[in-house]
Amino acid sequence: METKIFHITDHKRQKEEIKVVAKLLKDGEVVALPTETVYGLAANCFNEEAVKKIFEAKGRPADNPLILHISDFDDLERLTKDLPPNTIKLVTHCWPGPLTVILKKESFVPDIVTAGLDTVAVRMPSNRVTRAIIEAARVPLAAPSANISGFPSPTSAQSVIDDMDTRIAAIVDGGECSVGIESTVVSLAGKTPMLLRPGAVTYERLCELLGKVDIHPAVLNPLGEDEKAASPGMKYKHYSPSANLSIFTGSLSQFTEHLANHPDEFDSALCFEEEKELMPVKCVGFGNENDPLSQAKRLFDALRELDDINAKNVLVRLPSKGGVGLGVCNRLFRAAGFTFVHPERPTVTGITGLSGSGKSYICEILKNKGYSIVDADEVSRKLTKDGSPMLEKIASIFGAKITLGGVLNRKALAETAFANEENIKKLNELMHPEIAKICKRKVTAELKKGNNCILDAPLLFTAGLDKICDVTVWVNAPEDVRLARLKKRDNIYKREAVKRFEAQKKEEELARNADYILNNYKEYDLNEEIKKIF
Ligand code: TXA
Ligand code: MG
Repeated sequence: METKIFHITDHKRQKEEIKVVAKLLKDGEVVALPTETVYGLAANCFNEEAVKKIFEAKGRPADNPLILHISDFDDLERLTKDLPPNTIKLVTHCWPGPLTVILKKESFVPDIVTAGLDTVAVRMPSNRVTRAIIEAARVPLAAPSANISGFPSPTSAQSVIDDMDTRIAAIVDGGECSVGIESTVVSLAGKTPMLLRPGAVTYERLCELLGKVDIHPAVLNPLGEDEKAASPGMKYKHYSPSANLSIFTGSLSQFTEHLANHPDEFDSALCFEEEKELMPVKCVGFGNENDPLSQAKRLFDALRELDDINAKNVLVRLPSKGGVGLGVCNRLFRAAGFTFVHPERPTVTGITGLSGSGKSYICEILKNKGYSIVDADEVSRKLTKDGSPMLEKIASIFGAKITLGGVLNRKALAETAFANEENIKKLNELMHPEIAKICKRKVTAELKKGNNCILDAPLLFTAGLDKICDVTVWVNAPEDVRLARLKKRDNIYKREAVKRFEAQKKEEELARNADYILNNYKEYDLNEEIKKIF
């Protein structure tokens, strides 16, 4: 079959072309359409023969259901039933946009679309032309991504042509997709909302709009042989280039070391753009390290490019799993068939956060997971223990009232030292170099023993200790939560606590550069947050 290409360009022709494409769809043909996420292979969802053509063109297994694309909010209520109360709020905020919701279906939604499930996936894409085509076709369009099953999803018309030329009636060229990974899929059909596929509408955003949201285990893990996936798509290998991918779990320096030490195992790298010149092997870049949106946009193209440079065995830099990064990791892990390579030398992870963020609690959990903890607060306490030289120095600067007979009055110290910027600076200049020295010594000792090490330091960045870490983590909790914790734990009231937070302002500023954010408050599942990093 000859595949027609429509370039949606000038306004006048656009109107005509929208009509022509809508007619093809009404006549039961399959057409590739641009969306903000990836290109989709669309057909009239009520025409069983047309939907069958989608499965044939893609080589898609029949038990993997399709998403219905709509252009009118009312269609959501027409196609589904038993809408939970949050649904309208969620879609009003996120549509048109990269979000798919799964809900109980009305009986007239064809089984071929839902693979026989009693639920249906619905989304309203943001691409204006595509919405106009849906409107003109006057039916919801069933559309999976427009790639051959198992290949990376297409983010440009050329990628669709590569996979689909001669297999479908037409391709509408709408330029590059702005998001680059498929929509977020969230099921609202169960008791608690469940994230089935992460995308540009982030887990964090869903928690904001819906409260607690579960993350399906298959988002970051392979499915057990007998586990039935909530989203059938999760059981298939996905997004694969021809090359073998392995995800590297260490830092940039560990990554380049590993490549240099194993030239026989890896011939290529998939890394962040700004790291390309550091690579000892040929490489493809996929976005910038601190910009998950740029990673998402580039990812599938980058996977396709690996084949162009004839990569065989590729070591991949692991992006952060926060925000859109969760979606990037989800695609990468599947593309790699969950093959991971760990660094040969142990890793130092620096953890910082404001008072009451719950760092120590998290370190306890990590200790139980086998990490060695170096606690900068403990080092500081020991350094200023009764009768110590450091204590004498402090007393000589801040006055005798902070010591009583050689014993440190910590409350008095806190009040004096945190009283103003100048005092904070003085205290820091005295203590930081000493604390840093001892922490470094302790970290080195743990590494020598072969232990992965956590450096728990409330002033990690301020004291320059981030420089000895392979990765850094900012533990995050809102101010009211931190205040409540400080009141409960240390019996500290608001005025005092706010002063403490003030003293940590610089750290808060510097920690914007942390590699990861770990959210530690009730809207988040702490285990999930920890799993995203460790
Ligand atoms: O961004 C996107 O969502 C793109 C564009 C074209 O809209 N479409 C897309 O479709 O990615 P597809 O078919 O490649 O992925 C749909 C995913 C699959 O993992 C499928 O298993 C899941 O959604 N899904 C569809 N209906 C479902 C249902 N009723 N219950 C659970 N999962 C469902
Ligand atoms: Mg797909």
